[in-house]
Amino acid sequence: MFGFRRNAQGHACLGQTPLSELLASSGLETPVYFYDLDAIAHEASALSAGYGRAPHVIAYAVKANSAGSVVRTLAAEGTGADVVSAAELEVVQGCGIPANKIVMSGVAKKDAEIDYAILSGLLAIQAESVEEVSRIAARARALGRQARIGFRLNPGVEIDSHAHISTGHDKAKFGIAPSDIGRAFDVVDAAGDALLVVGLSTHIGSMLNEVTPYLKSAQHVCAVARMRRASKPGLEYVSFGGGFGIDYGGGQTATPADFARQAVELLGREGLSDLTLVAEPGRSMVGAHGVLVAKVVQSKVSGDNAWVMIDAGMNDLLRPALYGAKHRIEPLEREPSEPEWRVVGPVCESSDDFGAHPLGPQAPEAVVVRDAGAYSFTMASEYNGRALASEVFVKGGQIVSISASPGAAAWVKRRLQA
Ligand code: LLP
Repeated sequence: MFGFRRNAQGHACLGQTPLSELLASSGLETPVYFYDLDAIAHEASALSAGYGRAPHVIAYAVKANSAGSVVRTLAAEGTGADVVSAAELEVVQGCGIPANKIVMSGVAKKDAEIDYAILSGLLAIQAESVEEVSRIAARARALGRQARIGFRLNPGVEIDSHAHISTGHDKAKFGIAPSDIGRAFDVVDAAGDALLVVGLSTHIGSMLNEVTPYLKSAQHVCAVARMRRASKPGLEYVSFGGGFGIDYGGGQTATPADFARQAVELLGREGLSDLTLVAEPGRSMVGAHGVLVAKVVQSKVSGDNAWVMIDAGMNDLLRPALYGAKHRIEPLEREPSEPEWRVVGPVCESSDDFGAHPLGPQAPEAVVVRDAGAYSFTMASEYNGRALASEVFVKGGQIVSISASPGAAAWVKRRLQA
């Protein structure tokens, strides 16, 4: 049994182990992130099963959670990676993910990052503009190497998601627009041996909860793949991106494996089954399998308002402030119950507000913020002189590794030196 659950006493657990026990045995000060590595491994195998026998690479989008313990867990399940910087590339290589399962995305890769990617022999550098295709060709020539590239296509598909996480529409900075595809292939064909186009990809955004827009953008990728193949060999893969949603409490819809099965079927209908299917899931691999544990500093009741003030803030978990996202927050040691309290952090910003949550008649001593495995620690900052939180990795109910907070003293020292 793994993942977040409540035991018979109502204590919040990761797998079988109460989080309060894990916190005590870690010896760490809150706020602390806890991750369930067994649940993360299971997520990878469940998605892989969705592809059946179809050749596929699950290129985990490391930006969601770049902790070595997480990446090594996924690497052991055979996943690849989608990276967006040289630093992320170094992490995934250090975690043992082979180059031929790594793609590099990003709209503004620096020359040094392109060089590193070319020299590493990645599955592909996914170019996001005609201009970038030219720059990669120039770097390949300068290095005397051939660059394996993919085109990230912008299909012009709108999704029903937050504007900040929707990327496949025609005003987005991401990807090569349909009207630019011809020019992009011209640059490749003029570059001779410097470039090899091996893949075509798209990623229309995050938090997709139904398959239809995903398939619509995938059809665009397939149409371009068929067109390219009619004139030139070399294509090895198509990627329909990541973006599989998770249930933050509003109800689960399509599962990652549903997306996988539909992708395999589409490829068959399009006559492209010999191509490898690459997927780039981030959130769905880790999001539900991490929690943030925080202590209640104090409550404040004034007029009609009742706040619970916790020792985790928007610097630790930015999603509510940035996207209006709601993460369930519950008492650590008992089931949630009415009434609701407004849960806020200590940061001096009105947006440091996690929304109203059913914490019960008395403010609890500690709370658990659920579904904090993705885009949580990786988006943290030290704003207000607040150190990055500690992270604890759990396997088989035991702590297997800890990444301790650098502590506020380290922040003070760096600021004094600045
Ligand atoms: N592939 C590409 C090219 C991407 O840009 C992304 C995410 C992914 C894959 C993975 O998407 P996922 O499966 O995780 O949805 N910080 C936001 C999400 C930003 C996603 C950025 N790109 C959030 O907290 O909701």
